[in-house]
Amino acid sequence: MRILFLLIVGLLFLSSCQIKNPREVIDFTTDWKFQLSENENAVDSSFDDTSWQPLNLPHDWSIEGEFDEKNPAGVGGGALPGGLGWYRKTFNLSKEDQDKKIVIQFDGVYRNSEVWINGHSLGKRPSGYISFQYDLTPNLNFDSKENVIVVKVDNSQQPNSRWYSGSGIFRDVRLVKTNKLSVDYNGTFVKTTELTPSSATIHVATKIRNDYSDNKKVIVQITVYDPQGQVVAETETEQSIEASSVSDVSQTLKISEPKLWDIEMPNLYEAKTIIKIDNKVDDEYSTKFGLRDFNFDVAKGFSLNGKSLKINGVCLHHDLGCLGAAFNIRAAERQLEIMKSMGVNAIRTSHNPPAPAMLDLCDKMGILVMDEMFDMWKRKKTEFDYSKDWDDWHKKDLEDFILRDRNHPSVIVWSIGNEIGEQWDSTGTTIAKELVSIVKSLDDSRPVTTANNEIGNNFIIKSGALDLVGYNYHHQNFKDFPKDYPNQKFIATETVSALETRGHYDMPSDSVRHWPISWDKPFTEGNADNTVSSYDNVCAPWGSTHEETWKEMKKYDFLSGMFVWTGFDYIGEPTPYVWPSRSSYFGIVDLAGFPKDVYYMYQSEWTNKPVLHVFPHWNWTPGKTVDVWAYYSQGDEVELFLNNKSMGIKRKQGDDLHVMWRLQYEPGKLHTVLRKNGKEILTNDIVTTGKPTRIVMEVDRSTIKPSGKDLAFVTVKIVDENGVVVPDADNQVDFKIEGQGFIAGVDNGDPTSHESFKAPRRKAFHGLALVVVQGLNKAGTVKLEASAAGLTASTTEIKVE
Ligand code: GAL
Repeated sequence: MRILFLLIVGLLFLSSCQIKNPREVIDFTTDWKFQLSENENAVDSSFDDTSWQPLNLPHDWSIEGEFDEKNPAGVGGGALPGGLGWYRKTFNLSKEDQDKKIVIQFDGVYRNSEVWINGHSLGKRPSGYISFQYDLTPNLNFDSKENVIVVKVDNSQQPNSRWYSGSGIFRDVRLVKTNKLSVDYNGTFVKTTELTPSSATIHVATKIRNDYSDNKKVIVQITVYDPQGQVVAETETEQSIEASSVSDVSQTLKISEPKLWDIEMPNLYEAKTIIKIDNKVDDEYSTKFGLRDFNFDVAKGFSLNGKSLKINGVCLHHDLGCLGAAFNIRAAERQLEIMKSMGVNAIRTSHNPPAPAMLDLCDKMGILVMDEMFDMWKRKKTEFDYSKDWDDWHKKDLEDFILRDRNHPSVIVWSIGNEIGEQWDSTGTTIAKELVSIVKSLDDSRPVTTANNEIGNNFIIKSGALDLVGYNYHHQNFKDFPKDYPNQKFIATETVSALETRGHYDMPSDSVRHWPISWDKPFTEGNADNTVSSYDNVCAPWGSTHEETWKEMKKYDFLSGMFVWTGFDYIGEPTPYVWPSRSSYFGIVDLAGFPKDVYYMYQSEWTNKPVLHVFPHWNWTPGKTVDVWAYYSQGDEVELFLNNKSMGIKRKQGDDLHVMWRLQYEPGKLHTVLRKNGKEILTNDIVTTGKPTRIVMEVDRSTIKPSGKDLAFVTVKIVDENGVVVPDADNQVDFKIEGQGFIAGVDNGDPTSHESFKAPRRKAFHGLALVVVQGLNKAGTVKLEASAAGLTASTTEIKVE
């Protein structure tokens, strides 16, 4: 009995030794203090910040501001304020931490950040999108003496961006404690060197940092876990690491019967790196990776794991609508879910490095990524942009970007620039060669491209340094690509730029309008109230309608695919640039996350789901001529009935992507039937609604985690007595919240609204509004009440557990 007891205790002890990882990664986003001010005294450790605003990160102060066309960011930058802000955080470390190496990691700070620990400057970082870390070790206090970390963020010089950037420590921050022998920052690279159906060979390169003052003999163990957590490969290497230096360790492993990473089955492996000194674990580090093989072919386009796959992608800016640029993983995941259910299989992170967690999501969800670095090189696009930092920073920033992102299986293309000014002069050739060689020195497993709006005499393309020729727009030239660029590989880095206001329809719908109509009268044509029709017939002059581009793209196999501008509306760049607009019209989905009609065109083409989407609404003035469109798939004919009278059967002809009926409006009901071989497979009803009578709320997830960060997205609908959304309802809705949550943002998708994204109220826009509820870090419930004058109120409950 006694022996058994000792055995159990021994086993428990051993397993606890194994579980304890000497590397501690601490979420460092809570309990910060913030102030918008010019006060340089804040650097001083003894500075009194009691009057400052307490907050948790990620934080974007611009999104809390008021819209004003006179704000220096301009309407293009979203018309929200910039400025200079200070963040401070006070923290204690225990005596046991004294022998540790302690670093702070920032995923992104917009922009011109400078960081101090206990009054010592750690450095500056101009780029707002790059991730970086600082070593705090030499300047820390232990035991009861406090430490103060201070971050200055200077986004006062504007315009510095062509879109809404946000301001502040807008991504995650963590404190990492390790022993003095550790895997360096972004210090692993797992590369697949051979992949067959029966086996994979991976090469693991590890950078090991020795911060001890003597040389260390170490054992580096790599253990590979398959997607089910089973150990599938192991190896170890003994190596001497010199004092105060970084050494490279190189190891090769074989994995049999590899489970591939694919868009349908995004299998992820994990390589665990364990560093031992004298048989004691000094560091343990995890790298997620995927086994996949892809190819861009001159004639056949893109293939993943040997299967042809058209890249059906969208460009996404980094803002998350009413949350601004403050990163939130659930908000990003929701964006990707909405995109995926439309059939999107790829995103382009236009035009900057994304939050690293965005790539983790793409890895997990099976979404391909074109990872983009720059919107400009040395030639500026806006007065105070990154071109000013180019000479000092581009090399370091590009290196850090590749080192950070090169283990993600989702990343299949590096883009080193968007519509770069140097396309038109010979420096384009020199800089392109330099950048490509930086990328290739760190990762030669992915192609490099640039997004070009000059597809003729382009000095970047002429450099011959790129693996893929990237076209922005120019869909009329797609067909000539093999002639214009013989033996080169193609990607449409950016397409479309069509404009739509969700829920707004102008007749007739069948003539395409370019807005602005001409360059001489830019941005002044169109509707006086800055609405844009949703029939996919309005686009920027450099672009085309969604249908026009997709028809061309799907025709040719050598076209590997495209990234539509854009998946979601984003803040800033409200083409047309006319105040009061302050956010874009380019999205297939509006800023609140509500799909515009053309979403269903893509869904009918890019997914296998049966689709029948009919629009517009059915609330018009009697006698008006109204165009009714239907997007459909999986069937061969659609019949439309107006008040039980058939308006005719329609079938898509040739390359048609929709069908249309032109009707004289009479109130009542539009009933649409989709049939296949004469059999009904889907129906759709649109009715003339009555007046708004009540509010209905729908929650995307009725239970969220008590993490302090989880979100519930609540769609608020203004409905008539029959529960049907009233298409022109614009009632102001007031929200009251109680319990373990708060309102993180409100929106309605109207690009001209100047209401605050943070207020507990919002007008409905075409019958809809959105409330984003953020749970606290305590279990409980959140009660949300929505009320509006003259309407029956609504209440919903969200569990936080
Ligand atoms: C492109 C540019 C994008 C966006 C778009 C709007 O030329 O690359 O960033 O500005 O135009 O149509």
